[in-house]
Amino acid sequence: MNTIQDSLQEKILDRSAKIVILGLGYVGLPLATIFAEAGFHVVGVEPDQKKVETLRRGESYVQDVPSEKLSRLIQAGKLKATSDFSVLKDADAVSICVPTPLRKTGDPDLSYILVATDELAKFMHPGVVVVLESTTYPGTTREILLPKLTENTGLQVGKDFFLAFSPERVDPGREDWTTYNTPKVIGGITAACSDVAALWYQQALETVVPVSSAESAEMAKLLENTFRMINIGLVNEMAIMCDRLGLDVWEIIDAAATKPFGYMKFTPGPGLGGHCIPIDPLYLSWKLRALNYTARFIDLASEINTGMPRYVVSKVQDALNEKAQPLKGSRVLIIGAAYKPDVDDIRESPSLDIIGLLRQKGAEVDYHDPYIPEIIHDDWSMKSVPEIMEKVHAADCVVIVTNHSAYDYDRILEEASLIVDTRNALGYAGRENSKVVRL
Ligand SMILES: NC(=O)c1ccc[n+]([C@@H]2O[C@H](COP(=O)([O-])OP(=O)(O)OC[C@H]3O[C@@H](n4cnc5c(N)ncnc54)[C@H](O)[C@@H]3O)[C@@H](O)[C@H]2O)c1
Repeated sequence: MNTIQDSLQEKILDRSAKIVILGLGYVGLPLATIFAEAGFHVVGVEPDQKKVETLRRGESYVQDVPSEKLSRLIQAGKLKATSDFSVLKDADAVSICVPTPLRKTGDPDLSYILVATDELAKFMHPGVVVVLESTTYPGTTREILLPKLTENTGLQVGKDFFLAFSPERVDPGREDWTTYNTPKVIGGITAACSDVAALWYQQALETVVPVSSAESAEMAKLLENTFRMINIGLVNEMAIMCDRLGLDVWEIIDAAATKPFGYMKFTPGPGLGGHCIPIDPLYLSWKLRALNYTARFIDLASEINTGMPRYVVSKVQDALNEKAQPLKGSRVLIIGAAYKPDVDDIRESPSLDIIGLLRQKGAEVDYHDPYIPEIIHDDWSMKSVPEIMEKVHAADCVVIVTNHSAYDYDRILEEASLIVDTRNALGYAGRENSKVVRL
């Protein structure tokens, strides 16, 4: 007899399975296009009406998804965008890609997952595979999603429907490792859930890595991002220690990186940014707190990393002091506001704290970023200056916060009177120059 699992697997294999992606952001939109390119019909449900309208015009707002590819898929009827959750009633496969930020208190904010799951629960029916992609603490899929999807539906997981977790690992702006070729870890609530979810993702992605449970998949993502956060914390502290010792941290890192084994290069910077590294490990430490355990490495790295913007401001203050100038009233130009080079994402960017602190201390702050035309943050907003070199020339201090590759660093070095370089963007030319202060 053909089981529900058999029929769903057949639909997946012959591409007749209808896919719904909940949330068309940095994660959901690339995933939707990949499934559409693999031959599935994909509908993205996005509550932000502006995003839906932009997509319907065939325009992409995610750097990694070219508008040309998007409009081709939309015109071919393979990809659709809507704000109407009722499309879920016909779905065979659903992927949830909604935000998982922190609350003001630093605790996980699962509200987007809860709302998306409640919508999905209204339209649940037999023969659906559901995959949660949003980064979260271990246990979320089983403790939060599963009861919501079974409570009022009477459906049995692993038999009537299939539920799994698969962390997204995309590194926005990166071209060598994309959503398509970055191996995808998948863990189900039951073995059947893992099988169905893996089969679905195998149709569109290069490598799928099954693990034994949803919790293992959730924890694998947190290990990856915690590893990165702690190593960045270590190298940031190394920069502070080298400063005290009068040593050049950049030279030391390059020297250590010549070791062909047992060392991985991380570089210091003005602080953590982006939607993942500053936030995800705190989901883990929050979960462990509830189990009376303190995640000490996470707490320590977090303390060092969140202190970096203040450390950069102290560098600016000291550099101006050397010129007998107070920070108050000085013209400071911030170069680069995005959280990392060559992306248009400002979420959690250290530039926000640096600008805020400089303004608090009375500096006259401007910024330039080719990717971020405007910043609206807390109680202040600013527009990127239109002409960078004019401002570089006029500034009392230029602070390189994001080392976008579009900048002409030789010219910046030539024109500026004082530079604080937090990314070693000027390299050894900066080291040799007395008007440059490096991290
Ligand atoms: N951006 C990254 O580089 C990255 C990488 C790996 C993992 N992640 C994780 O993936 C998840 C999504 O991140 P993102 O960067 O795509 O966020 P995003 O904010 O770019 O996109 C999320 C989208 O979901 C929509 N949304 C909100 N509530 C919804 C609902 N109830 N139903 C449907 N859609 C809804 C939002 O309007 C938004 O467009 C997060 O958990 C994040 O931690 C992100």
